[in-house]
Amino acid sequence: MKIQAPKGTFDILPYGCGEETWRQSGLWQYVEAIIRQAASEYGYLEIRTPIYERTELFDRGVGETTDIVSKEMFTFKDRSERLMSLRPEGTASTARAFVEHNLSLHGSAHKFFYIGPMFRYERPQSGRYRQHHQFGVEAYGPGGPEQDAEVIDLLLYVYRWLGLKNLTVHINSVGDADSRAKYRDALVQYLKPHVSSLSEESQVRFEKNPLRILDSKDPKDKELVQHAPSILKYLTPEAEKHFHAVCHLLGKLGIDYVVNDKIVRGLDYYNQTVFEVLTNDLGAQNTIGAGGRYDGLVAQFDGPDIPAVGFATGLERVLQVMMAQQTPWNAPAGPFVYFIPLGDEAKETCFLLAAQCRKAHIPASVELMAKKVGPAIQNAVRAGAVHCCVIGIDEMAKGRAVLKELATRQESEISLEIAELERLYARRTD
Ligand code: HAM
Repeated sequence: MKIQAPKGTFDILPYGCGEETWRQSGLWQYVEAIIRQAASEYGYLEIRTPIYERTELFDRGVGETTDIVSKEMFTFKDRSERLMSLRPEGTASTARAFVEHNLSLHGSAHKFFYIGPMFRYERPQSGRYRQHHQFGVEAYGPGGPEQDAEVIDLLLYVYRWLGLKNLTVHINSVGDADSRAKYRDALVQYLKPHVSSLSEESQVRFEKNPLRILDSKDPKDKELVQHAPSILKYLTPEAEKHFHAVCHLLGKLGIDYVVNDKIVRGLDYYNQTVFEVLTNDLGAQNTIGAGGRYDGLVAQFDGPDIPAVGFATGLERVLQVMMAQQTPWNAPAGPFVYFIPLGDEAKETCFLLAAQCRKAHIPASVELMAKKVGPAIQNAVRAGAVHCCVIGIDEMAKGRAVLKELATRQESEISLEIAELERLYARRTD
């Protein structure tokens, strides 16, 4: 049997992705470079945590009754019988690392970002994978509304920079513990007479975590929930003040948003602000990024009582929206010169010229296979080369050759001195 990538996973390839253009590695590099630059402009520093952790971390952090933990984790026993899980998200791991390394001793405010694979055993479909990739940020310290507004602003800054259009920000507050306790009672009162008409899943949620019913995708549940009391009416004065202040700041930043009191999010750690960014270009999986405040999580892992807020955006969804919207992007530059030898003697000359180029930090490649110029040029194009340079006996004798720009087909004669190539390369990267 031919071995294939596991269901719900995919390869990111330099070429040959067919219709699935979002899977080309050049596009991923382009997007990741912009993300890194944007995160740095906002003062976020990179954190990298393991892709697997003790299962208990997610049980305690994300919540045992959430779908992510109860149904979707890849869990296994290591050879010492310890229960481990592939990380389904990055917030719990970041909090664990923060506590484990006593990072609170390094100051009172901390801003982290990460890019990496996450694993959820979901039913795969377009925009939903068993291995997906997230860009996420987590900001610890400031508990005020400015930090909430900053992370939302950063997320939209990245989307804007990437050229994404027609996105809608939905925002809500799930309040503090007091607000939620009061709201939970009100929601239970409202749902009680209708429990039997709720979906099976929501009937379980009714017992364990009724707020999650607001999140149900079942059409009948959705209908019922439409008329449920609004959590925003149950916010304590402090929670209400915080939420209004966040909305006020978003307005000042020129960010359009919709207050959507049905957003509760599928992870247990949230309090106060929660938000989602939606797109119409992805079909059923219309949430491109999401996050919120989670003030109690770090303390829950025996760390300091430090407020926190963050988001994550799925890179697959970002790239798919880019492709759907035909957003322009630039592939990272390939070799500056692609040398094409005519004959075996020229092969050595080209090989050595390319080696000299690399010593001078000029990206260069050599055609070592094709016997004819046509296929060699095709290889140069596929490699993303800027120029090709065909060298045969004549060129070797003269010490000069034609440099052809592949995109424009413009030709110029150059000497085969490395100094000349250095000059040309310096002019290009000026
Ligand atoms: P989340 O909403 O579970 O939040 O995931 C964040 C984003 O990851 C989603 O909006 C979506 O774009 C993407 N995503 C999730 N699951 C999949 C999947 N199976 N396939 C493709 N993309 C997916 C979190 O993970 C929180 N940790 C976000 C956060 C950070 N909150 C505070 N800080």
